[in-house]
Amino acid sequence: MLIGKTAIVTGASRGIGAEIARKLCEAGANVALCSRSAEAVAQIADMLQSEGHTAIHQAADISQKADVEAFIKMVLDRFSQLDILVNNAGITRDTLLMRLKDADWDTVLQTNLTGTMYCTRAVLRPMIRQKSGRIINISSVVGIVGNAGQANYAAAKAGIIGLTKATAKEVGARGITVNAIAPGFITTDMTAQIPEQNQKQLLELIPLREFGRPEDVADAVCFLASDAARYITGQTLQVDGGMVM
Ligand SMILES: NC(=O)c1ccc[n+]([C@@H]2O[C@H](COP(=O)([O-])OP(=O)(O)OC[C@H]3O[C@@H](n4cnc5c(N)ncnc54)[C@H](OP(=O)(O)O)[C@@H]3O)[C@@H](O)[C@H]2O)c1
Repeated sequence: MLIGKTAIVTGASRGIGAEIARKLCEAGANVALCSRSAEAVAQIADMLQSEGHTAIHQAADISQKADVEAFIKMVLDRFSQLDILVNNAGITRDTLLMRLKDADWDTVLQTNLTGTMYCTRAVLRPMIRQKSGRIINISSVVGIVGNAGQANYAAAKAGIIGLTKATAKEVGARGITVNAIAPGFITTDMTAQIPEQNQKQLLELIPLREFGRPEDVADAVCFLASDAARYITGQTLQVDGGMVM
């Protein structure tokens, strides 16, 4: 399905990003992975390599423009083409807005939104030259409906939806599609921080009555990266068990 394609996945050292990397490999893509922790992302890449896939990696903090540019350069030096970018890396610094520290606003916006922009901007030239490309941004249902205690995260994830639409309009004529995925509650380290009582209440809001798995998001990424999604751009696909509708 994605045989011979080159895919970049940011934040691929665990959780949803690691699963996206695995599914893209299983679909035949060569992957380039980054996260801030060199050791953790190397472990995922090594595991994929040991299973016969092509996976390269580099430590890169997406909130740092120089890191992003060095990472993309490394990928372009190694592979002759760049077909898919999955902007998955993201963080939370949750607290009520009244108590929110400037630093926690800045860090979340700089990572989740500005980092996504840095990575997207860095791949546009090679994709435009190639006249093809797929950019898939991981937003959140919180960017659509908001969430108390997550003003910074909700603003960043809503920003990603706007960024997705604007970029889709800019590069559609160049053969590049840009879409977002808005996961609901997916079981990972990120959601493990949520107290059990709150998790029970959240479950009640999900018509499918179960939390999502990283594979559910990874399957949606593989779809948007595939030929089956060639006529879809500027959209936000919710993977949330019906939580937000
Ligand atoms: N889990 C959910 O329910 C859920 C719901 C909606 C949306 N999402 C979104 O899905 C994405 C993945 O979430 P997850 O649950 O898998 O989170 P996670 O388990 O905390 O993993 C986050 C990944 O991003 C990396 N990362 C964090 N900051 C980074 C940075 N500045 N530069 C590069 N890599 C960075 C982390 O590695 P390092 O720490 O080594 O950098 C890690 O690999 C995020 O964008 C998140 O907002 C998750």
